[in-house]
Amino acid sequence: MQMAMPRELRVPIAVFLLIMALVSHGGNGIGVNWGNLASHPLPNDKIVQMLKDNGFTKVKLFEADEKSLTALSGSNIEVMVAIPNNMLQKMSDPSAATDWVQENVTRYMKPNGVNIKYVAVGNEPFLQSYNGTYLDITLPALKNVQQALTKAGFGAQIKATIPFNSDIYDSPASNPVPSAGDFRAELRNLTIQIIEFLAENNAPFTVNIYPFLSLYYNEHFPFNFAFFDGSDNPIKDKDAIYTNSYDANLDTLLWSLKKAGYPDMPIIIGEVGWPTDGAKHANVSVAQRFNQGFLRHILRDKGTPMRNSTPDVYLFGLIDEDSKSIAPGNFERHWGIFDYDGKPKYELDLSGHAEKKALKGAEGVQYLPRRWCILNPKAADLSKLQDSVSYACSQSDCTALGIDTSCSNLDVHGNASYAFNMYYQVRNQQSSDCVFSNLAMVTDQDPSKGTCRFPVMIAPVDESSAKRRFVGEFTAAVGVFAVCLFLINFQY
Ligand SMILES: *[C@@H]1O[C@H](CO)[C@@H](O)[C@H](O)[C@H]1NC(C)=O
Ligand SMILES: *[C@@H]1O[C@H](CO)[C@@H](O)[C@H](O)[C@H]1NC(C)=O
Ligand SMILES: *[C@@H]1O[C@H](CO)[C@@H](O)[C@H](O)[C@H]1NC(C)=O
Ligand SMILES: *[C@@H]1O[C@H](CO)[C@@H](O)[C@H](O)[C@H]1NC(C)=O
Ligand SMILES: *[C@@H]1O[C@H](CO)[C@@H](O)[C@H](O)[C@H]1NC(C)=O
Repeated sequence: MQMAMPRELRVPIAVFLLIMALVSHGGNGIGVNWGNLASHPLPNDKIVQMLKDNGFTKVKLFEADEKSLTALSGSNIEVMVAIPNNMLQKMSDPSAATDWVQENVTRYMKPNGVNIKYVAVGNEPFLQSYNGTYLDITLPALKNVQQALTKAGFGAQIKATIPFNSDIYDSPASNPVPSAGDFRAELRNLTIQIIEFLAENNAPFTVNIYPFLSLYYNEHFPFNFAFFDGSDNPIKDKDAIYTNSYDANLDTLLWSLKKAGYPDMPIIIGEVGWPTDGAKHANVSVAQRFNQGFLRHILRDKGTPMRNSTPDVYLFGLIDEDSKSIAPGNFERHWGIFDYDGKPKYELDLSGHAEKKALKGAEGVQYLPRRWCILNPKAADLSKLQDSVSYACSQSDCTALGIDTSCSNLDVHGNASYAFNMYYQVRNQQSSDCVFSNLAMVTDQDPSKGTCRFPVMIAPVDESSAKRRFVGEFTAAVGVFAVCLFLINFQY
């Protein structure tokens, strides 16, 4: 027997169910990494607003920062929280893992809380440059965290995973095709034990894939192969043809998993992106070419030769971080699709359809006054210049200086001004921080030149009013939802 439903209700109910399905599933849609290693982070509520305004459905964090999580409360954005590498040792004690879950997960699992889906245990812990520091402690930490999640009642809902760098697998130089790929020999057994545990818990395998780094570390890497608009150097692998590095990399992983006996392991791309400064090929137009090409590529949802579906992806990253370690290179502080102040760096259509679509920047950002610290053109004795510049750069971010950067057009004096200003801004423009042996002076004329931008820092944040705003926003959201229901009904 069919249930009779008044005709005028069918469409609104279908629309309502569709909206609910989209809102609660969130499986599709693009994710983004939100890192906090900035001298002047944007207010957390502005970041969350940017996530919403740009339609991000997922966010990946690098720890379990209380303020970030509080700002995400009630947003329904799927969250991957994280345990940093320096806490892995601690997590090899089950009771520490229990405490971590209690304080950093359970606390947020309530009505209007945080939609936590994953816990990232460590960040690229097997990276070759860590010299094996985390090899013995990562799997015990993973087990203890997943078991603590299960004990707390979230085992089915929240999965522990480990974001790996793609340097844990490779294909041999003698046969550089995906089907020849496997996990690095010295890690293979351990990696497979980890995969086994993930599979038992229906948890995904997370990997970070960076064609930029392939290009950065290998000057013979065919440039166009890093992108998604065809390549003059495709890789032929039996019947499969690879025209871009991302697909080839992902399929190298899928072959490695298949050889390990896990051909259907679900995958998450934990990080993928392109920096805009600090290295050759790191600029706005190349970053846009990569990121827009990538989004268009994955949103077609055709998969790769090895798997016909598309994994969940998290772009790296949301915003520039001027305090990040530059051990890997000066580009490390320039991965954002937004600048330090929440301004979009370039057009990026996150839906993958239109060619040109602006990202929506942060609104109402408070800046320090419009003034800059520069080298005084009248300074006569320049004997202390080099020491002053070195000191300024050691305490601030000079990664936009040097060859192949946005400020490579500066001369020695321009370099000094840039360094002095970065120091002055990061120190919140205190007048005592624009002296430098009387070489420096404050100006209200923007010294920016061509691609080289002299920033004015954003004002330090007072988070105390964030909570009040949150309650206000929630009330407004309920109101908007009610109006939507009304409108849907009204139309039919
Ligand atoms: C919760 O996470 C924060 C931020 O990463 C960390 O400082 C804190 O120690 C964690 N709590 C426990 C009990 O481990
Ligand atoms: C790893 O070893 C190299 C070479 O011995 C050393 O330069 C580097 O600092 C080490 N890294 C860590 C994280 O221990
Ligand atoms: C990996 O495991 C296999 C089988 O248990 C063993 O024969 C081999 O020696 C192990 N390899 C390493 C590098 O530990
Ligand atoms: C950006 O990098 C590309 C590739 O290295 C280069 O061809 C192009 O000239 C650069 N653009 C700017 C504005 O520097
Ligand atoms: C400016 O500074 C950068 C980074 O310290 C350096 O590589 C470059 O040579 C300097 N340029 C001049 C003209 O001194």
